[in-house]
Amino acid sequence: MNPVADTVIFFGKFLYYFLESLVLKVIPKRKKDVSGEIVLITGAGSGLGRLLAMHFASHGAILVLWDINQEGNMETCRLVKQKGDVKVFAYKCDCSNRTEVYRVADQVREEVGDVTILVNNAGIVTGKSFLNTPDHMVEKSFFVNAISHFWTCKAFLPAMVKANHGHLVCISSIAGIVGINGLSDYSSSKFAAFGFAESLFFELTMVMKTKIKSTIVCPYFIKTGMFEGCTTKYSFLLPLLEQEYVAKTIFNAILEEQVYILIPKFAYLAVLLKQMISPKMMIALGEYLGVDTCMTSFIGRAKAEALQMEAERKQQ
Ligand SMILES: NC(=O)c1ccc[n+]([C@@H]2O[C@H](COP(=O)([O-])OP(=O)(O)OC[C@H]3O[C@@H](n4cnc5c(N)ncnc54)[C@H](O)[C@@H]3O)[C@@H](O)[C@H]2O)c1
Repeated sequence: MNPVADTVIFFGKFLYYFLESLVLKVIPKRKKDVSGEIVLITGAGSGLGRLLAMHFASHGAILVLWDINQEGNMETCRLVKQKGDVKVFAYKCDCSNRTEVYRVADQVREEVGDVTILVNNAGIVTGKSFLNTPDHMVEKSFFVNAISHFWTCKAFLPAMVKANHGHLVCISSIAGIVGINGLSDYSSSKFAAFGFAESLFFELTMVMKTKIKSTIVCPYFIKTGMFEGCTTKYSFLLPLLEQEYVAKTIFNAILEEQVYILIPKFAYLAVLLKQMISPKMMIALGEYLGVDTCMTSFIGRAKAEALQMEAERKQQ
């Protein structure tokens, strides 16, 4: 240990990586080729999972689709097959159930092969204030949104480490970096997902010294139906995001092997400010952006669909 030499080396590396990051901002990044990669997407039966499956299919990947909702998953499978000669395998799997994850993972290894890109995307939201959130929903949110990532990574990471090749993608949320009023169980489970993915990223690169890549995704509200009813105040700063745009941005980040991706870009500033300003300033910012009330009009997909069916029934 030599403090002077260590400090000089540290500043040298810091400056080098700073300049490297500036250069990489300007020159277009090399995109990786995902053709022939075995890509497993959890929660593939709807929203982002379905759209990501379509992107991977267009680029020649072999797809493994997991969802608890078999009907939605089969629909994704059908849509993916329309892309042409795509190898796609759909499995019903409840990611929150450890034994089921390990059982279906064994089946995938036997029937398809070793997964090389794992997209932990399945998610649920309760959308109730803390005291109105039933205990079982707190547990369920953690099991689906965070703990399932431990099981899927345990199942598929060993083969990636052995081959020194792979990519782990975690779909967290802006609510996984900043707490949001009315989302206590969801937000904390997304913090957990973020923390797990980031710790594993450090472990893989520093401890295991592998070439396995990580991408951690944090979007604001997306118009997939999951957060139906939620509002935004100034859409030019924090828009409700179009699902196609988000899926394309995430897919691009995976191809460029970006570690962190926050959507929209304004979120980078909000997260930086969070570390620097006082809690009262933070609350004022939340009020200005309408984040304090964004959940008050939340109804969620199930209720929105029920309301729509009711409206259609009345029209007949
Ligand atoms: N929609 C948003 O505003 C938003 C914002 C930030 C992050 N996210 C995250 O993006 C991811 C995708 O969300 P989405 O908007 O496409 O939602 P979605 O509801 O359209 O899709 C989620 C999918 O996960 C599946 N699923 C739920 N529980 C499961 C389980 N136990 N096992 C397997 N599959 C299960 C559902 O059946 C569904 O097909 C989620 O992790 C979500 O938390 C969404």
